[in-house]
Order: sequence, then structure tokens, then C-alpha cells
Amino acid sequence: MIPFQPLANTYGTPLYVYDFDAMQSQYHELKEAFRGRKSILAYAVKANSNLSVIKHFASLGAGADCVSIGEVRRALLAGVPPYKILFSGVGKRDEEIREAMISDILYINVESEAELGRVEMIAKELGKVARISIRVNPNIDPQTHPYISTGLHDNKFGVDLETAKRMYIRSKHATALEAVGIHFHIGSQLTQLEPIYEAAVIVADLMRSLSAIDVNLKFFDIGGGVGVCYNDEVTITPYDYAQAILGALKGLDVTIISEPGRFLTANAGYFLTKVLYEKRNGEKRFVVVDGAMNDLLRPSLYKAYHRIEALDKVGEESVADIVGPVCESGDFLAKATLLPMMEHNDLLVVHSAGAYGFGMGSNYNTRGRSAEIAYQKGEARMIRARETFEDLIALEREYL
Ligand code: LLP
Repeated sequence: MIPFQPLANTYGTPLYVYDFDAMQSQYHELKEAFRGRKSILAYAVKANSNLSVIKHFASLGAGADCVSIGEVRRALLAGVPPYKILFSGVGKRDEEIREAMISDILYINVESEAELGRVEMIAKELGKVARISIRVNPNIDPQTHPYISTGLHDNKFGVDLETAKRMYIRSKHATALEAVGIHFHIGSQLTQLEPIYEAAVIVADLMRSLSAIDVNLKFFDIGGGVGVCYNDEVTITPYDYAQAILGALKGLDVTIISEPGRFLTANAGYFLTKVLYEKRNGEKRFVVVDGAMNDLLRPSLYKAYHRIEALDKVGEESVADIVGPVCESGDFLAKATLLPMMEHNDLLVVHSAGAYGFGMGSNYNTRGRSAEIAYQKGEARMIRARETFEDLIALEREYL
């Protein structure tokens, strides 16, 4: 049990707390599911990009899936070996491609024909051969929130099968390109296995037809997306997930790369916030807290549900909205939730906040971002200090 109240007393609120032991067991559970197969778990850094978190996964053997050169730099700094780093994303700048190639990462996930052209040109300029993988958009509905669906032709991600094939053939004839992998990622917070299986079958079939024309790929990159339980969702087990992928591969001899983010961190993270006031507008009850949408955006952006626990509080519960101090009606952590009567300084624990929590934060309303705490083997340590006003204005000019 994590000592939330003492942590809040020591470090103040709002506060992010990450259970490093829970992250570790999630990592092992997924890795174990692929036992007996060559596999790399490339942690999706975007889910929680704190350097200590990345370092923790690196120490367990993880690689890193990155979506900007900033994330690649974080991964390198945290000790992820370059040969386990991938660089994905629909819009990479030339400087980012150049730096990734100089850093000698495992491969760049290419997402368009135009991008392939840039990668080839930059490789030639550098006198290097660029290792690439192509992100295929299998046109599968992943049955998740539309904002986090990525595997339909309606979405901006990847290329269709025909285009992918053309790109592989082009790479085969290009001296500065070496196609080493194939990639798909159909969406996030997936709770149904079927769409993942269907996508994997489509992509594995493409891999086979490529091998028939002598394009032999080593890496089968299945993206991320495995959902977690926020409320009462029944989600995919690592074992079933791995079995579905292996079923689609049917004996293809490849190294499986997966890019889990949420699965590794979501339920290992907590967001602590203190009650400022109780208030009523007519019949409507609001509990105003010191954490806000700038700290944890998911409820406002996706109407995402996060379980919120009133620590050590008993008493009759009634319906309330839990809202923050930001000047937006959309600033809430929960709507119509049941809570006992709260008092000034009571602590609320927001669960499942370890993925896409701190990382999607902002300084809106000139609010400094929370501190981040690692809790491991019964000990807490601060892995990011609370932002100060001075931090927030440090880059601004001409105000004196
Ligand atoms: N690989 C690629 C190419 C991705 O685009 C993503 C997530 C992942 C891996 C990791 O997916 P995961 O295992 O975490 O589902 N902000 C949203 C989630 C956006 C996910 C974007 N891509 C949220 O808070 O739900």
C-alpha cells in the first residue's frame, strides 16, 4: 500500500506518484507472454516520458518507441541502447530524421511515400544506409474512442497495403535504404482482441507476399494499444494477445516488437489532489480541488473515467462533480461521482493516472506542473521537482 497521505504531506499537491514495482510486474507479464520468441518491448515513451521511468524500463531490458527526436534523446539519456530505439510519427522534420540516423537507432517507422523520399535523401547526404520499417494502415476499426483510433484509412497514420508494397520495392532498389521491418498500430486502449488479430493477419500476409519478391523483413512491429481497466472494462490478457499475434505469424521467423505504453504505466500511477472547497450552485454539488485539467487532461479531453478515492473518508455519499481551479467549464476530474462530504485539505487519489497524465499536462493558467514521485520497494524519491513560477517564465523575453 502506498502511503499517499504522508507523500502528500511531504511533497505537496497536486502530485503524481508512480509505483515502480507495479510497472516492473506489468513489463514482466507482457515479456513473459512472448517467451520462447525473439521479442523486444519498446516502451512507448509518450505514455510517461519521465527519464527515471524510461530508465526503469531500460534496466529491465526494454527498448523505446519514440515519436519525436526529443523522445529519442530522452531514451538515449535514460540508457536505452540505440539498437532498441524506434522512431515513429507522421510528421518528422529533416533534422529529426538526420539526428535519428546519426544516433544509429534500430529503425525509422516511415509513414508516407514522401517521407521515404526525405529519408533516402538524408541517408545519401550522410553517406549512410537508413534502416526503415513501414507503417501499414490495415483499415481495421479498433473499436475504441475515435480520438485514439489510428488504423482506419480515415486516420492520418500509415499507408495502405498497395502503397506499402510499392515503398518496399523502391527500398529494395535504393542503395541508401534498408527495409528491416513492418509496422502497424491500430489504436489505443483496445479491449477487443479480434481487430488486433485481423490487423496482424493482414500485415503478416503482406510480409509473406513481400518475401516472395525477395523483400525479407526481420522485425514484425505490432505497435501498442493493449487496454487497461479504468473502471470495469474487461480487457485483453497478455497471454491471449501474444497467442493471437503468434497465430497470425504462423511460423514466420521474425523478431516481434511491441510498443506498449498504457499497459506498462497507467495503473501504476496516481494523481493526488487536495480538496479546497465544497460548493453548491442551486442543487448542484461541486468539490473544488487543487488539481486541474492542466495536470490531468484525459477527463476533459476524452471524457475519460478515472476512479477517484476519498482517502480515509467515511460518511454518507452524494453526487458531485470534482472540478479544478482552471477557468474552463471543461475543467473537471470527474462528473457525477459519489463522494462523502469533504473538508478543506482532504486528500483525493485519482487512479490509473500513470499513462498520458503528466505528459499531456500544460502550464495553462500559469500553473506549474506537479512534482513526480517514484515509489519503489517501500521508498519514495522525487523524480521531477514541482515547477516554479520562475521555471514558467524562464524563456520569456522583453518583459522588463
Ligand atoms: N505505438 C504507436 C505508434 C502509438 O501511436 C502509440 C500511442 C503507442 C505505440 C502506445 O499506445 P498504448 O500502448 O499506450 O495504447 N492520449 C491518449 C492516448 C494516445 C495514444 C497515442 N499513440 C489517451 O490518453 O488515452
